[in-house]
Amino acid sequence: MSKVSIIGAGSVGTSCAYTLAQRGLVNEIVLLDIVAGVAEGKALDMRQAAAIQRFDTKITGVTNDYNATNDSDIVVLTSGVARKPGMSRNDLITTNASIIKNVVEQVTEHSPEGIIIVVSNPLDVLCYCAYTISKFPKNRVMGMSGLLDITRYKSFLSEKLHVSTKDIQALILGGHGSTMVPMPRYTTIGGIPLRQWMGDEEIEEVIARTRLGGDEIIQLLGTSGWHAAGASICQMIEAIICDQKRVFPVCAYLEGEYGLNDIYIGVPVILGANGVEKIIELELDEEDAIRFYESEKEVRGNVNVMKRMK
Ligand code: 2OP
Repeated sequence: MSKVSIIGAGSVGTSCAYTLAQRGLVNEIVLLDIVAGVAEGKALDMRQAAAIQRFDTKITGVTNDYNATNDSDIVVLTSGVARKPGMSRNDLITTNASIIKNVVEQVTEHSPEGIIIVVSNPLDVLCYCAYTISKFPKNRVMGMSGLLDITRYKSFLSEKLHVSTKDIQALILGGHGSTMVPMPRYTTIGGIPLRQWMGDEEIEEVIARTRLGGDEIIQLLGTSGWHAAGASICQMIEAIICDQKRVFPVCAYLEGEYGLNDIYIGVPVILGANGVEKIIELELDEEDAIRFYESEKEVRGNVNVMKRMK
């Protein structure tokens, strides 16, 4: 028996719920929103698709009723405002940090043994906020960003090289923003290193596009995307619920790893039933190290902005 609650029934929360239901990974999904009727309506719509999509997952929608989320195994936080064209994720700190603080207080009371996956932006900063407010152990608070950034990176590589995304293995470190660090040195296609497929200039083009992969969608739609984000959250939920010990980057709390302390940032981990079970420390070459620590500097600066807000 497993139960997942998703706080925020916007596009990302709903896409996550629907993908999760179709995969049959959990028994129960609770969708919660503050706007009356939204979560109920979206849950009802998904239930009406069950006969065709052939799922039995119980999906409930509620308006701000955290009792319905009681004893969730995993709680996904998608609450907050999304970016509009021209905004960076960091422009959302003030609004979203106070929303996440209130949400986390409720979540910890109703699911004291749960695992929290933060999705709201600015992701790395809000993970830190969720960790400090929840007082959960660090393995049970994490953020979804690396998988989303990697799936975008893979899609751009696949378009350029005309190869299947299925055969691409890749890694991205750092904060979820324009300073993220795609790692060509750790990218292979069918086991063949990326540098045997592309020259440096082309690789840099793909990296630049990946860093702005979310912005490209905002320019087209006027708001953030949701399918890739929803699918990425589901992959994390699957790894935890099925204790898969998957290896991919999540936004995790560092205590000495990579020489860093007291920060949430994207690093490769082993993800299983206990959440972040191990942080994997890579040896960074000079170029990767410069990019990674630049990203860390940006994240830390934004955490300090949030701390000053309090
Ligand atoms: C994105 O990159 C919303 O941060 C999310 O699309």
